[in-house]
Amino acid sequence: MRSLDEFAGEKLGVLERAKLRRTPWVTARAGIWAECGGQRLLSFSCNDYLNLSQHPEVVAAAIAATRLYGVGAGASRLVTGNHPLHAELESRLARLKGTEAACIFGSGYLANTGIIPALVGPRDLIVVDELSHACIHAGAKLSGATVKLYRHVDIADAEAQLTAHRSGKKRALIATDGVFSMDGDLAPLAALSELAQRFDAWLLSDDAHGIGVVGGGRGSSFTNGECDVPLQMGTLSKAVGAYGGYLCASRAVIDFMYTRARTFIYSTGLPPPVVAAAVAALDIIESQPAYVAQPLRKARLFTRALNLPEAQSAIVPVIVGDAETALAASELLRDEGFLVVAIRPPTVPEGTARLRFAFTAQHPDGEVERLADVVRQRVLRR
Ligand SMILES: Cc1ncc(COP(=O)(O)O)c(C=O)c1O
Repeated sequence: MRSLDEFAGEKLGVLERAKLRRTPWVTARAGIWAECGGQRLLSFSCNDYLNLSQHPEVVAAAIAATRLYGVGAGASRLVTGNHPLHAELESRLARLKGTEAACIFGSGYLANTGIIPALVGPRDLIVVDELSHACIHAGAKLSGATVKLYRHVDIADAEAQLTAHRSGKKRALIATDGVFSMDGDLAPLAALSELAQRFDAWLLSDDAHGIGVVGGGRGSSFTNGECDVPLQMGTLSKAVGAYGGYLCASRAVIDFMYTRARTFIYSTGLPPPVVAAAVAALDIIESQPAYVAQPLRKARLFTRALNLPEAQSAIVPVIVGDAETALAASELLRDEGFLVVAIRPPTVPEGTARLRFAFTAQHPDGEVERLADVVRQRVLRR
C-alpha cells in the first residue's frame, strides 16, 4: 500500500538523518571472532560471556537432542509440547538459584512480558529502575498498573516513590535489572529487598547478564552473600549460550505462572535441542568456577588499564555522547580489528550513546590490553 510505504520511508529518513537508523548486519561468529562486512574482527560485542554457545559439549547435547526428539517442541507446554527436557532444565535452574521451582519461557523478553502482568494489574503499583531493560518496561505497561520510575540505582528515590504511591494500591512490585545491560553495574539488591519488605512489595530482578558471570555464576542475588529476591528472572541467551527466558521462584508462584502467564500459555515450548544445550551449559557453569570467573577478570583488566571505575560485570560502557560520535568510535576500532558496536538512543538515554564492551572467558589478555591501548589513544585521546 502506498501510504504504508510512504509512512515507513518518511520515518526511516528521519532516523537516517539523526544517525539512528539500524541495520541487522550479517555476522558469522566463530568463538571470539566475528566476520562482518567482509572483515574478520575480534568481537567485544557478544553476550556469549562464557563462549558456551559453541562449546563442544553444549553443541553435542543439542545435536543428540535433535536426533532423539526433533527440532521443535511441536506445541505449547500446556498442550503436547511439554518435553521431559523442559522439566530437567527447570529443576536445574531452580537448584542454581536456590528456589523451589522455575519456569522457562520462549525468551527473556517473553518472560518479563508474561510474569509482570500475571502478578500485577490496574489497581497495583510497579516501581522500576529507570535504566531497566525494555522488556521490564514493556511488561509493566502491559500490566496496566501505575508505573513509577526511580533514578538509576537510587534507593532513596525508590523509597520516595513507594512512600508517595504505595498506599491505596493493592499489590506492589519493584523491578530492576540485576546487572544493567548497557552500564554493567549491579542493582543494590540487598537494599531493594529491605525496601520491598518494608513496603510489602515483591522484588523482581532481571539477571540476564548476571547468570554465569557474577556471584560465582549464580547471578546478582549472590554477589554479597545471598539476598532475598523472590522473583529471579533471566535469560538463557547470554552466558548460558542457548536461548529462552526463565523465572526462578517459589513453587506456588511458578504453578501460578503455568496457569496465568500469557506468554507461557500461548506460545510454543522451547525447542528440545535448545533446552538440552542449556542443561549442558549449566553443567559447565556449576562445575567450573575458575572458568566462570574469567569474563569479570577480563573486564577488570580493561577497566584497570584505562583507569575506569572497576568493572562489576562483563559489561563495560565507554560513554561518548551523541550517536554520530559513537558510530565514528566504533569505526575507528574496526580499523584496528575490533568489533565493538555503537549503542545509541533509544536503547540508551539521549546524549549517552556509547561503546559497550562485553568481555568473554576466551578473550586473550594480550588482546584486552591492546584494545585498552587503542581506546585510550583513539577514542579517549589521552
Ligand atoms: C536485562 C535484559 N533482560 C532481558 C533481555 C531479553 O532477553 P532475550 O534476549 O532472551 O529476549 C535482555 C537482552 O536481550 C536483557 O539485556
